Amino acid sequence: MNIILLGPPGCGKGTQAKKISERYGLAHVSAGDLLRKAVAEKTGLGLKAKEYMDKGKLAPDELVIGLMKEKLSDNVLLDGFPRNLNQAAMLKNFFDVNAVLNIDVDFRILVKRLTGRRSCSCGTVYHVEYNPPEKENVCNKCGSRLYQRDDDRKEVVVKRLETYKKETAPLIEYYRENNKLKIVDGNGSIDETFRKICEILNNI
Ligand code: AP5
Repeated sequence: MNIILLGPPGCGKGTQAKKISERYGLAHVSAGDLLRKAVAEKTGLGLKAKEYMDKGKLAPDELVIGLMKEKLSDNVLLDGFPRNLNQAAMLKNFFDVNAVLNIDVDFRILVKRLTGRRSCSCGTVYHVEYNPPEKENVCNKCGSRLYQRDDDRKEVVVKRLETYKKETAPLIEYYRENNKLKIVDGNGSIDETFRKICEILNNI
């Protein structure tokens, strides 16, 4: 089973992807995580991508497509890819998708989710209010200090949401026309959203 997770920044793609991959045994492939790893390692690709990420823009297609291509196999859960029509057209050539889950969340909620997010280098994600760690600013899993992503500052968040509306939102119609689209209401809690996703995936 191959699944694409679609939705605006902060809708809960990463949070749900971890739960889905555990429950259904899918490999979680996150474009954002791969790009952040390249940035942290200061590779040529990472340094180039950072220029765009810090401004809330999409990294150039050729960089992202190259990075993603080598991760695609069977039983994959794609998170944050494709992110525009060009990436979707390319993906169609060598990846069979069973369903595209679009996590739908009110834009007012998204800003609060993103600016309150705290991340750990081990990949665990928290929220200061909705999903706080047991000890303030310390990861429950590995004990490392939590940090705020550079692109979770309010001014970059606003840009990311604009980029989403312009470049990524058209994918909703694209996958609807391809009869792959499933809409998930993501306004509720993490567990409520996961239940809705499971109802869909159990019927695929
Ligand atoms: P990426 O890392 O993919 O960022 P994003 O799509 O903007 O998504 P986020 O990771 O910000 O949010 P999410 O939906 O995963 O939410 P999360 O679960 O963390 O991409 C970053 C950048 O990389 C892009 O801006 C772009 O520059 C570049 N990039 C990536 N892919 C690209 C591509 N294909 N092409 C070109 N460039 C690309 O949740 C957010 C917060 O809310 C957390 O704190 C969480 O705890 C909390 N939360 C989650 N669900 C709930 C809930 N139901 N109730 C309450 N709180 C919740």
